[in-house]
Amino acid sequence: MSAPVGDNTRSLIKRDASSVWHPFTQQSLWPSDDPIVVDRAEGMYFWDTDGNRYLDGVSSLWVNVHGHGVPEINAAIAQQLDRLDHTTFLGLTHEPGIALAERLLDTAPAGLSKVFYAGDGSSAVEAALKMAYQAHVQRGQVRPLYLHVAEGYHGDTLGSVSVGGIDLFHEKYQPLLLTTAMVSSPGLIEPGQSRKDRATEVLHEMRSLLQESGEQVSAVVIEPLVQAAGGMLTHDVSFVQGVRQLCDEFDVLLICDEVATGIGRTGRMWAVEHAGIRPDMITCGKGVTGGYLPLSAVLVAEPVYEAFLGSATSGRTFYHGHSYTANPLSCAAAIANLDLMSERDTVAHAAAVGERIRDSLVPLAAHSGVKEIRQIGTMTGIEVESVMDRTGFAVCQEARRNGVWVRPLGDVVVLMPPLAIENSDLDLLTSVVSDAVDSVVR
Ligand SMILES: Cc1ncc(COP(=O)(O)O)c(C=O)c1O
Repeated sequence: MSAPVGDNTRSLIKRDASSVWHPFTQQSLWPSDDPIVVDRAEGMYFWDTDGNRYLDGVSSLWVNVHGHGVPEINAAIAQQLDRLDHTTFLGLTHEPGIALAERLLDTAPAGLSKVFYAGDGSSAVEAALKMAYQAHVQRGQVRPLYLHVAEGYHGDTLGSVSVGGIDLFHEKYQPLLLTTAMVSSPGLIEPGQSRKDRATEVLHEMRSLLQESGEQVSAVVIEPLVQAAGGMLTHDVSFVQGVRQLCDEFDVLLICDEVATGIGRTGRMWAVEHAGIRPDMITCGKGVTGGYLPLSAVLVAEPVYEAFLGSATSGRTFYHGHSYTANPLSCAAAIANLDLMSERDTVAHAAAVGERIRDSLVPLAAHSGVKEIRQIGTMTGIEVESVMDRTGFAVCQEARRNGVWVRPLGDVVVLMPPLAIENSDLDLLTSVVSDAVDSVVR
């Protein structure tokens, strides 16, 4: 149960409301939604300014890997800070940036051979889209179209919005966007339809589009295996495999956006491993630094990279980058995160976490207020019946009263704990959320 709100908290909320604009937030409701003011965090938990403790059930929006305040990552950042805070990556390089690229490529499917750094997930997608277009131009083909998937989400910059497919987030910007063609979501299954049949259906759609205008398409962009922000919409591996085949057939580049699914989230280091395919580009972000600092990257296949090589005057340079590209502190955090992941076999642990989540939620799946539970690895969406305005939010508020912080996507309650969560905390997460669903959606 939450303690009464103290004066300090009240004053911070008031100051927040008068000077801050929060992402993805209806500001007119925000102060009355009783915001949590976070004070500190440790392990799987964070505490508010009134001393209440909450289990971080969504990994601080899908980024956290080993928990908060991990001594090894703290030490790596501190050591790096003593040595080099930041220098540009334009015309300079540094060991953390080099070492992290090597580490990421060691984990990636064979054939991905270069790392281009960006800042957040959206900026990695933005870079990948431009790379795909420019690579084709430099092979003599102008291909201004992208092919993408309904219910997809790739970030909030205009390029990534162009390849998104969630009306609530994206429709308003339509007049501003790149030209794209969109197929249906392989994760929206008709009653009685198998996921495999749905995948086949959407692949047919994609084939028709490519037959019509494949010569115009630079890249197909997908979230492999799960459309996360679309509501944890999972699809069959045959979809990912089929998209790879179509891209090969029509000479189109395949961008797999693993910003959400990468770095172990699905119980494999990369979701594409489930499908056994190699994309031309993987975008990653979120968990790369263990959830500490912003850093994202595009992992690129050699032929794409080679399309950019030429003389200084060839015009083939990729004129794209950011002030904080490959920030050394972010790189140090990421290397420490990947070290810990291999020492502790965190990816296998995440797979086991996924199995325990699935088993624990079996009773909830049979609840009359639950439409469907979709899950892969640590990524879980519980779609509840809409019984009121903001039902998903009401479930999360109820869980919060019992010490668990989760966040909905509409009426899909998302559970996505840090990969390293142990059984006792995981059981708390699933039981509190199950009870919250039961008490809100009767
Ligand atoms: C698949 C995917 N791509 C891109 C993004 C955007 O990442 P960021 O919020 O770091 O810009 C997200 C964020 O949730 C995502 O899930």
